[in-house]
Amino acid sequence: MIVVGCSHGSHLAKKIADKLKKPYFPLEVTHFPDSEIKLRYKINIKNKDIVLVQSFYGNVNDCIIEALFAAETAADLGAKKITLVAPYFPYLRQDKRFNQGECISLRTIAKNVDEDFDRVIIIDPHLHREKTLKHIFKISSTKLTADPLIADYIKKHIKNALIIGPDVESYKWAEKTAEIIGCESAILKKDRISARKVKVSFNKRIDTKKSKALFVSSKIPKEFFLDIKNKNIVIVDDIISTGHTLLETIKLLKKTGAKKITCICVHGIFAENGLKKLRRTGAKIISCNTIPNPVAKIDVSEIIAKAI
Ligand code: R5P
Repeated sequence: MIVVGCSHGSHLAKKIADKLKKPYFPLEVTHFPDSEIKLRYKINIKNKDIVLVQSFYGNVNDCIIEALFAAETAADLGAKKITLVAPYFPYLRQDKRFNQGECISLRTIAKNVDEDFDRVIIIDPHLHREKTLKHIFKISSTKLTADPLIADYIKKHIKNALIIGPDVESYKWAEKTAEIIGCESAILKKDRISARKVKVSFNKRIDTKKSKALFVSSKIPKEFFLDIKNKNIVIVDDIISTGHTLLETIKLLKKTGAKKITCICVHGIFAENGLKKLRRTGAKIISCNTIPNPVAKIDVSEIIAKAI
């Protein structure tokens, strides 16, 4: 087996190879002046199992082309089995036609991945209407989660935590993390107005049986109130993209007296200065290293190595 680091996966590929005690090689990736990509394996990969590590951030579309080129070239050069390790996998939110005439991007990406790879491993994929990876890919797929790593981080660094999920979908991360730590969790309500505008509010109803909704109305029974003022608030979500979801969440929680706030996510994309904007609120921001960024303190290489 050889672990190959694509241009946006090398920050993890070397660590994964070390953990597996397998050789690591970076893929040579260059661009022509007109931005076309050229890549090259500088090792012999004939009859080898190739693990291609590529995360999909920054110029996401280039990352996709590169991964597909790398897989097809590997097959062409005689590789035996080709696995895609995608710490962060893109386009999962565009899994249906929301407006007439739109493309279902996920379907196209999945079709190409199916064609070029034998197996795909993804950390905390943002699954919406497609409930499992088996519904998305025909090839063998493995879904990993960083929940235990996030829980470990909180246990080590944050005492007296109260976990908050900013929207109903985040309950998977918020609730699971709280369960592992053994602390309380609550879920807020988010309405997305546009890609850069969301409204976060206290919830009146909640879809999950376990999570307490966060009520503020005086008509709500007392047992539903959570002690926000005296807790270390930890907002947990899978993705921070522009940061607007968490900016609104922080604003709302501060209004109810929250003082110490930490935000933890799996995938820290931090588009459009998202990290800077979030840091300005005074909250501490932490992410896993599925995407490299200045606050990527939680290392996912171990869970990937184990899955391989
Ligand atoms: C969406 O449902 C995800 O879980 C995140 O909440 C979302 O991607 C965050 O996006 P942004 O940081 O741009 O608000």
